[in-house]
Amino acid sequence: MNFEEIKALDQAHIMHTYGRNDVCIVSGKGSRCTDINGKEYIDFTTGIGVNSLGFCDESWVSAVAEQAGKLQHVSNLYYTLPDVQLAETLCKRTGYSKVFFGNSGAEANEGAIKVARKYSFDKYGEKRTNIVTLQNSFHGRTVTTLAATGQDVFHNFFFPFTGGFIYAQANSMEALGDACDDTVCAIMLEFIQGEGGVLPLDKEYVEELAAFCKERDILIIADEVQTGIGRTGTLLASQQFGFLPDITTLAKGLGGGLPIGAVMVNEKLAGVMGPSSHGSTFGGNPVVCAGANVVLEKLDEEMLREVRRKGEIIRAAVSGCENVATVTGLGMMVGIGLKKGTSKEVLKACQDAGLLVLTAKEKVRLLPPLTIPEEDLKKGLEILCKVLDAQ
Ligand SMILES: Cc1ncc(COP(=O)(O)O)c(C=O)c1O
Repeated sequence: MNFEEIKALDQAHIMHTYGRNDVCIVSGKGSRCTDINGKEYIDFTTGIGVNSLGFCDESWVSAVAEQAGKLQHVSNLYYTLPDVQLAETLCKRTGYSKVFFGNSGAEANEGAIKVARKYSFDKYGEKRTNIVTLQNSFHGRTVTTLAATGQDVFHNFFFPFTGGFIYAQANSMEALGDACDDTVCAIMLEFIQGEGGVLPLDKEYVEELAAFCKERDILIIADEVQTGIGRTGTLLASQQFGFLPDITTLAKGLGGGLPIGAVMVNEKLAGVMGPSSHGSTFGGNPVVCAGANVVLEKLDEEMLREVRRKGEIIRAAVSGCENVATVTGLGMMVGIGLKKGTSKEVLKACQDAGLLVLTAKEKVRLLPPLTIPEEDLKKGLEILCKVLDAQ
C-alpha cells in the first residue's frame, strides 16, 4: 500500500481528532526512523516523550517479545511477576509505598484524583473534595482530566464536566492562598507544563507550596506523565524540586513504547484504596511491564548523568541561534521560544530537512530519546539551528 492509499484509509475510517504531519513512518532504530518513501529522520520527538530508549532498543524488544510468547495477559485476578517487579523497582527508587498500574497518563491522573478524594472523604467527610490545578496545565483528555486541565479552551462541547476543580495562577502563592479554602483536598501540578509550552514552576514557589499544603493536610499530586522517567535528568522531576509529593503519576516514557500509566502514593496514602475501589482490565499487563522493567533497568545513575549532559549540549546549541528568544525546560525536555516565524513552520522545515521535532503552543519542543548518541544529537541540532535561523 502506498502513502496516498494509507492516507485515504485514514481519511475514510479514522475520526479526525489529530492534525497529522504529512509523513508515514514505517520503521525505526535508535534515534532514527524511516518513512514509507525510504526517507530517514533523526527523531527529537520520541512519540511525544514515550520511546525513552529510542526505537526498538534490543533489550526492550527481547523482553517484550519473550513475555508476549510466554503470557500476554491474564488480568488482575491473578498474580504475575513483571508487574510486582516493576512496582518494587518504582517504590525502591522513588521512596513511594504503593503503585497502581493503568494504561495512560489521563487514567493515571484519574486514579490520583480518586486517591486524593478518598483520603479526604475518609478523614474529613463529603465536603472536602475540591482540587486546585494550575492555569495553563494539561492533565489529559477524559471528561475528568479535561476538567482538571486549567485551560478554558479544553472546557467545551462535552458538558457536563466533572466538578470540583479550581484553577490558580502558577507561581503565585497569593493565587494559591485565594484558591485554597476548607473544601480543598489536593493540589495537582506539573513541575514543567509540557503541553502548555515547556514552562517550569519556580523552585521557591514549589517550596512554599509544599509547606503550605503540609500545614493544611492538602495533598500534592505531581503529574509527571511527561517530566518523569528521566526526561528532566533525574528519575522524577520532583527530585530537583527537593521533595516527594504525596502522589506522583507516570505514563509515557515508563513503558518505552507500550501503553502504561502509574499512580504512586506515599506511606500516608498506602491504605486509602481498598478492594474494589479502583481497577483496570489491562493495568499491570505483563508484556507492558516487562518492557517498563527494561526501561528502568537501563535508566541508571550513569544514564541520568548523560541526560543532564546532553540537555546542556542542546541548550548550548539552540541558545547560540540568532532566532532563539528563550530556552526553557530541564534535561532533555526543551522548549524554544522564537523571535521570528512560528513553531509549526519550524516543525515543517525540520521535517523536510530530515529531523522530527514537536511544538508546544508557540514553542518548538524537543523530547529526544534519552539514549540518543551524541553524533545524532549534534546532527539533529545542526539541522534545527539552520532551520531556526532561516526563519
Ligand atoms: C502532563 C501530562 N499529563 C497527562 C497527559 C495525558 O496522557 P495520555 O495522553 O497518556 O492520556 C499528558 C499528555 O500529553 C501530559 O503531558
